[in-house]
Amino acid sequence: MENTTTRLDSQEMINPRLAIPDAAPLVLSLRSVGYTLETALADIIDNSITAKATEINIDIKWNEALNYISVRDNGYGMNETDLHQAMKIGSKNPIDPRGNNDLGRFGMGLKTAAFSLCKRLTVGSKLIDANEMSMRVWDIDYIAQSNIWELFDESSTRNWKDALSWFGNCEQGTIVVLEKLDRLITENLSDQAIGRFWQRIADMEKHLSMVFHRFLSGPQAIAILINGKKIEPWDPFMRKSFATQEFREEFLECNGESVRVHAFILPHHSKMSVEEYDEAGGVNGWMEQQGFYVYRNKRLIVPGTWFKMLRKNEPGQLARIQLDLTGDMDFEWKIDVKKSSAAPPSILREGIRRIAKTAQEASRKVYYYRGAVINQRVKAEDNDAIWEQASVRGRTFFRINRGHALLKDAKAQLSADAEKKLNTFLSLIEGYAPMNASLAGPVSGGTGQENELIESAARFCLDLVDAGYSSSEALRKVLQISIYEGLAEAIKNKLQL
Ligand SMILES: Nc1ncnc2c1ncn2[C@@H]1O[C@H](COP(=O)(O)OP(=O)(O)OP(=O)(O)O)[C@@H](O)[C@H]1O
Ligand SMILES: [Mg+2]
Repeated sequence: MENTTTRLDSQEMINPRLAIPDAAPLVLSLRSVGYTLETALADIIDNSITAKATEINIDIKWNEALNYISVRDNGYGMNETDLHQAMKIGSKNPIDPRGNNDLGRFGMGLKTAAFSLCKRLTVGSKLIDANEMSMRVWDIDYIAQSNIWELFDESSTRNWKDALSWFGNCEQGTIVVLEKLDRLITENLSDQAIGRFWQRIADMEKHLSMVFHRFLSGPQAIAILINGKKIEPWDPFMRKSFATQEFREEFLECNGESVRVHAFILPHHSKMSVEEYDEAGGVNGWMEQQGFYVYRNKRLIVPGTWFKMLRKNEPGQLARIQLDLTGDMDFEWKIDVKKSSAAPPSILREGIRRIAKTAQEASRKVYYYRGAVINQRVKAEDNDAIWEQASVRGRTFFRINRGHALLKDAKAQLSADAEKKLNTFLSLIEGYAPMNASLAGPVSGGTGQENELIESAARFCLDLVDAGYSSSEALRKVLQISIYEGLAEAIKNKLQL
């Protein structure tokens, strides 16, 4: 952590003269530091989370009478002195240490995020035991005219009154209201403009559900609502899917701090429904969302990057890697004011590149998974393939090529009993192979094939019993195999159970 400033040489400091920036040009330039609607709202929400809010309400109004965005939280709030300080550009020194749950760093976010969308920022805040709320208002039109850093402690606009009515008699908390949304609302009110506006809000919702997903789930989950509707978390790593592969966590050491890295390979698309696939693609789509997900104190900063070490490519798109930073690492990782970019320190690049390459390769294998199996089928004719394809009840089933030279060779050295056990085990592998576990396609086929299947299932059951399974366990194992779907009764009859 870079927590000192360079010592000044007094010889270089001759005749200091004040050069205070002019308020009007500075505030107008700050409007263009590059926030989007999404990153601006996320920055304001950061403050509410830091203030330990458990519920954050974003209210958005655009109609003939009202036109504002408000973010109100039930966090610990501020007193008047702190609020006044908080409203200053650069309200805190970025080199001061911050707590582990502090999502801020620069003392800028509230103001720069707000000004990038609007010309009037009003903040009201209340501590738990305070009798009334403190207030401060920045108005850019006023600063542009007066050219002085002067703010107000009252507001009586319709928007503010409406927003405040929602804040009600809350015990503690903060409300941030953005009015004169000239950078967001650039069209006159019309049905089409309103449609486009709400589409942007819907996109913003998706962004927030990604950026704050780790706060929106788990036992200590907080709630973020947009116009009363709760935002659901979006987990980039599909941890709930049984088909997601998870690598072991790794820790990369840098200047006595350790960065936690945890790679995931998402499932092949055949393991997902169309809706799941679209959903898992995320706001920017599968291609874009591959790579490292950089979190700072659990808040997502970068949703998918290879840090210019590797290119994003189609087969690599299943690799997503969680990378956890703490606030102490901000300068080494070049975290920006908007909390939307990061770059690893050079000392860690080697380790990161290695993890990236391994994950991309693992993704490539899963991505080409089906293709590889089918290509091997072609080779089955020369008996070198591991898998061969069969059509069972109208579905494609993969089985191990029993004619493979190595297998034949090994079997020749086994006793009859050991060979039988090996065959039973191979049948289990086939039955439980991931590509056979969720066979797609209709269950069909003549009774001839069905009888044959029932026979084979019964035989397989007896083989498992011979191999040491109890009869109920053997039956359960066989019935879990998807090609026997719907045949349970017939198989039990056959076994006279
Ligand atoms: N919702 C809130 N509840 C309580 N305190 C707040 C809230 N919003 C802002 N503050 C106070 O205002 C200060 C300034 O906020 P601002 O977002 O401008 O800077 P920051 O959070 O310190 O750093 P950064 O620029 O990295 O966001 C915060 O440090 C915090 O003390
Ligand atoms: Mg902040």
